[in-house]
Amino acid sequence: MLYLTSADLQTTKIETLVIPVCEDRQMYDDSVLRSLVRAVKKRKEFKGEKGDEITVYNPPEAKAVRVLFLGLGKFEKLDLEVFRAVCGEAAKKCAGKNFSEVLIAVPFDKKMEPGRRDVLMAMQEGAFLGNHRFVKYKSEKKNRPLGKIGFLVKPDEVEKYRDLTSRVETVCGGTILARDWVSTPSNDKKPEAFARAIVRHAARENLEFRVMDEKELRKKNLRAILAVASGSQSPPRMVLLDYAPKHSEKTVAIVGKGVTFDSGGINLKPSGSLGDMKDDMAGGAAVAAAMIAMARRKPGIRVIGAIPIVENMPSGSAFRPGDIIQSFEGKTVEIGNMDAEGRLILIDAMSYVIKEYKPQILIDLATLTGACVVALGEKIAGVFSSDEKLAEDIIRSGRTTHERCWRMPLPDDYKELLKSDFADIKSTGSSRWGGAITAALFLSEFAGAARWAHIDIAGPSYNKKETAYCGVGGTGFGVRLLCDWMETL
Ligand code: BES
Ligand code: MN
Ligand code: ZN
Repeated sequence: MLYLTSADLQTTKIETLVIPVCEDRQMYDDSVLRSLVRAVKKRKEFKGEKGDEITVYNPPEAKAVRVLFLGLGKFEKLDLEVFRAVCGEAAKKCAGKNFSEVLIAVPFDKKMEPGRRDVLMAMQEGAFLGNHRFVKYKSEKKNRPLGKIGFLVKPDEVEKYRDLTSRVETVCGGTILARDWVSTPSNDKKPEAFARAIVRHAARENLEFRVMDEKELRKKNLRAILAVASGSQSPPRMVLLDYAPKHSEKTVAIVGKGVTFDSGGINLKPSGSLGDMKDDMAGGAAVAAAMIAMARRKPGIRVIGAIPIVENMPSGSAFRPGDIIQSFEGKTVEIGNMDAEGRLILIDAMSYVIKEYKPQILIDLATLTGACVVALGEKIAGVFSSDEKLAEDIIRSGRTTHERCWRMPLPDDYKELLKSDFADIKSTGSSRWGGAITAALFLSEFAGAARWAHIDIAGPSYNKKETAYCGVGGTGFGVRLLCDWMETL
């Protein structure tokens, strides 16, 4: 769907050409593009400021039916996210008008701060992601995605950057897979169905997979997962994905929270907070989609993906606050609140993966706490780790992909708050403050000897309003982050 071309603008017939334009710099060295930009800047209504937009039909300079100019803003403010955003808008606008393809000009300016390869990648990412909408449940399918998105580059670059195109399609394809899973309503992704959907994609990529059903979870003593599932009519699952190249020295494991709907259980959420709780499997979706993308990228390390999947519901068979369960790892846990269900399924998945696969590094992704959203807002994830390098590597990948991460503390003395009078540990903190931290500290008790990090994605996993390259619904946050991180290991 993405491709690179060095087509001649004077002789090639183009339906829609998109030209990103800077406010205070020419940025193109090609004579046709230069004159197109020069001509459009003479118009009052277009200066190249961020958000500026104008369409010109049949310009004399090129054989294009229409040229859409989009403003980038000031030259010194250009970063990769500006390029992602402008191409996302371009794809969104053109798909919205039912065009079937576009060609986007890539600025060529030696003074540009981000490197050529990175700019090209960001532009492709933005366009690819912005081209997608979740319309499965709309009877009338407006916004048909563009079938082809081309990028106008130099002749020698078509070959040179071909690998970029396939990388973007694979990794961002994973992001879109995760977005669709998250946006799917909970009645169509009960644990069994979600597990089946993951496995269907995994099988296509030759990933090894295993699905543990309720019986097997019971046999293996994964009781914390069973406890959360007990209130629901829909039985739990755990999906295990294994990417194992022939000669690997390292094993990393990624674990994702897969709560297909979080009602809060016996601690039922107030109605205002229930609406978007189909999003509570976003960690699991990101982990599964990243595994599926990585299986195609073929890294040299072994990667295990684990997704515990449950529905958290209140009922006569549900677990209650005060109940005590024994985790897979052995520690007894007093349940503080049935709305703190994510950490319970995560600890069993983590302990199981540690015992079975002995990973050197373990990362979990979870829509874990509202407190993390209070702290960092809806766009930034919280990273918790006592491993400096691991935390820094994740945060660096967050910068590269603009899936932003911010380091949060794991103070030892706060563990005090998780003391239980009756069991080894309590699942929730005794203070209402610092909820994202106590949740992370609870998980840390089950990380064993692995280098571990927890990423709380409760904020950035879901879009209530559309943004430049993501519609309303799941954002697929974590897929590009995890792929970038794994590729730099
Ligand atoms: N899934 C929620 C966290 C959440 C909140 C995700 C808002 C997305 C948006 C989680 O299971 C939860 O309910 N956490 C509780 C923990 C509390 C009971 C200790 C919370 O954050 O209130
Ligand atoms: Mn909850
Ligand atoms: Zn939850």
